[in-house]
Amino acid sequence: MSKRVFIVFGLVVLVLAVLIPWLAFRDKGDASTGPQKVAAQYEHGQELFQINCGTCHTLYAAGTNGNYAPDLDELLVPTGERAQDKATIDSTTERVLNAVENGVDSSTTPGRMPAGILNRQQAKEVAEFVGAYAGEG
Ligand code: HEC
Repeated sequence: MSKRVFIVFGLVVLVLAVLIPWLAFRDKGDASTGPQKVAAQYEHGQELFQINCGTCHTLYAAGTNGNYAPDLDELLVPTGERAQDKATIDSTTERVLNAVENGVDSSTTPGRMPAGILNRQQAKEVAEFVGAYAGEG
């Protein structure tokens, strides 16, 4: 093999070695595999959700798929359309805040969702994020 062919071959291998992993991994973080990009004011709430709620609850916008508890997209937004109007967003936010602060009983098990997972400030941030983004999935 001439030296030139050898170098070209080496370059092709190098390009493939970079390109293939890039193609394989560039989809990370998109719709089906990870959290949605949310407005800056909701980022902290989204992160709190992932850490504190996502093991039990599925929420598309947070990229979580917990299945111990109801899917919050389905439960909170049965229409399947993320709310755009303030009144609906506010009422969903209230509902979530109430669940986080007081916990949720199931018909058979009181406190199936425990109360007081978060402090009030954190609970508000999570509730505002869920209120604004539930129904994306
Ligand atoms: C240990 C698991 C667990 C964790 C963690 C958890 N939940 Fe829940 N959650 C549940 C269960 C179980 C239910 C449903 C209870 C039932 O109706 O049987 C529920 C219900 C809810 C509801 C519905 C209440 C309603 O109005 O019907 C909301 C909203 C909710 N959770 C939000 C959250 C948020 C936000 C977090 C994070 C701060 C969170 N949950 C963390 C288990 C959990």
